[in-house]
Amino acid sequence: MLINFEGIDGCGKSTQIHLLKQYLEEHGRQVQVYREPGGTSIAEKIRSILLDSKNNMSVVSELLLFSAARAQLVQEKIIPALNDGVTVILDRFYDSTTAYQGYGRSVLPIDEICVLNKMASYGLVPEITFYLRISQKLASERRLKHAQDRIEMAGNEFYSRVLDGYEKIIKEHSRFIVLDGAQPIESIAKEIRTHL
Ligand code: TMP
Repeated sequence: MLINFEGIDGCGKSTQIHLLKQYLEEHGRQVQVYREPGGTSIAEKIRSILLDSKNNMSVVSELLLFSAARAQLVQEKIIPALNDGVTVILDRFYDSTTAYQGYGRSVLPIDEICVLNKMASYGLVPEITFYLRISQKLASERRLKHAQDRIEMAGNEFYSRVLDGYEKIIKEHSRFIVLDGAQPIESIAKEIRTHL
């Protein structure tokens, strides 16, 4: 089973992923968690290039690097794990590319990004996508507590386009389960469990 978590930076994905992994393992499931970009040696190197705030990167390079990191993770880790019956939880998947590079950067056609997403993920589609919805205000309060990476430095207008983009993506795919990310951690975790 393939599950991904989505939302803007500061939405609380990582905490929920950690709790879900624990819960599933307690119930006898084998679970692997991968973050995107990352999860393999090549993809972690690509991640550091992508997030380095000193890099001045073109939008196309950014799109292709996120996609390259994904292709490596899918081929090297995700497909073998799924074949072994492992539940794979992803901290972001191609919905992030559609939201950030597509709607957020807003210079490349969404349908072309979707073609690339399909290629980079070898056609894999998650069974469930949990979207943690939070306001831009709450997200930026949480984000500002740590140093900003290159993507986070894009600013408020960028994040507002990413948020609107996610709402459009959610409407198009029934695999999305939308959660109120402003709720207490334990009540979000409880709701997530009811879907598994
Ligand atoms: P993370 O902080 O959730 O690990 O994600 C790294 C950053 O990369 C985050 O700001 C979202 C961004 N991102 C994209 O812009 N496009 C993508 O395809 C992915 C996977 C992440």
